[in-house]
Amino acid sequence: ASGTALVHTPVAVADIPRRLFGSFVEHMGRGVYGGIYEPDHPTADEYGFRHDVMELVNELGVTCVRYPGGNFVSNYNWEDGTGPKELRPVRRDLAWHSTETNEVGIDDFYHWSRQTGTEIMLAVNLGTRGLHACLEELEYVNAPAGTALADRRVRNGIPEAMDVSMWCLGNEMDGPWQVGHMSAEAYATAVDQVAHAMKLAESGLQLVACGSSSAHMPSFGHWERTVLDKAYDNLDFISCHAYYYDRGAASFQDFLLSSEDMAHFIDTVAGICATTKAEKHSDHEVALSFDEWGVWYSDVWNQQEEEWKAQAKAGLHHEEWPKAPRLLEDLYTVADAVVEGSLMISLLKHCDHVRSASRAQLVNVIAPIMTEAMGPAWKQSVFHPFAAAAHHARGNAYAPSIDGPMLSTPQYDAVPAIDAVITWDDERHEGLALVVNRDEHGTHDVRIDCSSLPRIDASTMRIDATQMLHEDDPYRRNTAEDSNAVVPHACDVRMNEDASFTLTMPEISWAAIRFH
Ligand code: AHR
Repeated sequence: ASGTALVHTPVAVADIPRRLFGSFVEHMGRGVYGGIYEPDHPTADEYGFRHDVMELVNELGVTCVRYPGGNFVSNYNWEDGTGPKELRPVRRDLAWHSTETNEVGIDDFYHWSRQTGTEIMLAVNLGTRGLHACLEELEYVNAPAGTALADRRVRNGIPEAMDVSMWCLGNEMDGPWQVGHMSAEAYATAVDQVAHAMKLAESGLQLVACGSSSAHMPSFGHWERTVLDKAYDNLDFISCHAYYYDRGAASFQDFLLSSEDMAHFIDTVAGICATTKAEKHSDHEVALSFDEWGVWYSDVWNQQEEEWKAQAKAGLHHEEWPKAPRLLEDLYTVADAVVEGSLMISLLKHCDHVRSASRAQLVNVIAPIMTEAMGPAWKQSVFHPFAAAAHHARGNAYAPSIDGPMLSTPQYDAVPAIDAVITWDDERHEGLALVVNRDEHGTHDVRIDCSSLPRIDASTMRIDATQMLHEDDPYRRNTAEDSNAVVPHACDVRMNEDASFTLTMPEISWAAIRFH
C-alpha cells in the first residue's frame, strides 16, 4: 500500500540539550580493551588510546559518555583503575564473566574524554559498595588539591579537578541479574542517602537515580514511584533503559514501530515525575536520563547465560575468565539503523522531559563503531542516523502533527507509518527534518510543512542537504570487509512555494533534510 502523509503544524517541545547525543563505554567485551584502547595499535597515543577510533567518535558527534558501566560497575572498585598501571590489580568481573586487568580506569578515561571533547557521566557502584566509596570517589575525581584523595589524584598525574557533574547512582538495581540488586524500597533508601551526602560534599552535581531496566520489568512504575517519593529533592534525573530487536518483538512490523514503546515509556515516567512533584508541592524538577537505548540482539547473551546455568548443574568447577572476549558484537542491518533513527526522533520529540540520553554502547559492544585488532575502525549502519542528529539537530525541537497512512499490528493499534521531528535553530536560521517510514511494505509520499516555524520565509527557504537510508534488502549490513554496504545517499526533495517540501519515502527508510 502507498499513500501521502502530511507533516504539519510543528509545535515547540523544548531546547535540545547537547547531552541528548550521549553514548556509553562499559568495561565489557572489546568496548575498552581492543576498542578505545589498544596500546600497540599504530594510531595509539601515549595513553594507549586509538586515534582512529577518536576520529570516528568525533564524526559520530557524541557529546557525553557514560562510564564505566553498566552491569560492570556493580562489582567494581574505582580505585583499581587509578595510579601506576603496574600496581593495578587484576580482578574477576562478575557481570560479564571476564578478567578485568584495570589497565584503563578513571585516570585514563579522563584523558580520553579530554581528547575527544566529551563530557564524562560517571556511574558509581551501589552493588557491592555504597555511600563511603561514592564519597571517596567524588573527592578523588572532583575535589581541588589539598585533601587526601584529591592529593592522591594529583600524585597520579592529574593536578586539576576532573569536574564531573553527572553521576549515575548505581546501574539497573531493579534487575535480578545485577550484582547487589535491591528492592525498590531498599534502593530508594540507599540512593536518598548517597545523593544527600554527595550534595553536601559538592553543590551543583546532577545525580541520576536508577529507574527501571525496561518498561517491561514487573516492578515498573512501583519502582519509579518509590524511588522518587523517597529521594525526590536530592535527585536531578531518573534513568530509563530500553533495547529493541526484531526477534524480541511480536513481528518485524512491531520491531519497526519500537519508537512507540519508547514514547509510551517516556510519557509514563514523566507522568510519575510530575505527580511526585505535585504531591510534594516542590519547585524542583527531576528529568529523564534515557541512558541506555538502542538495538541489541539480546537473545544471544541470554542463551550464553542459559549455557552457564546448565554447566553449573554439573557441580563446582573452575570456569574461564577470558580477557576482553568478543561480547555483544551485533552487526546491524539497515532496518536496525532505521529503527535507531526512529528512536532518536522519539527522544527529540520528548526532549522537554528527556534531558540526557546515551546510545548504548559506543565501540564494538552493540556499537556504531567497530575495530579490527591492529587494523582499521569502521562504521556500522546505525552510525549514520545518530551522526546526522548529533551534528545538525540544534536549537529547539518541534513535534509536528502527522496525517496519513496508519499501521495496526499485534502490539500497536493504529499508529502513523510516518514519524518525524523538526528542529530549528532560530539564531543560525537553520533547520533539520528527520523523517522515518516505519512501514514494512508501503512507500509513502511525505509533505513537510514548515510554514509555522518562527521567522521562516517561504520566498528564501532552501534545502541545504539531504540524506536517506534505505536498501531493497532490509537485512543488508556493513562488515569489516565492506563498511560502505549501508550508507546514506542524497535523495530527491522538492521545495514547494509555501515553505513546505515533498519527498518519497520507500518502505523501511529514514531521511534527514537540512534547510534554512
Ligand atoms: O549495555 C549492556 C548492558 O545492558 C548494560 O551493562 C546493562 O546496564 C544493561 O542491562
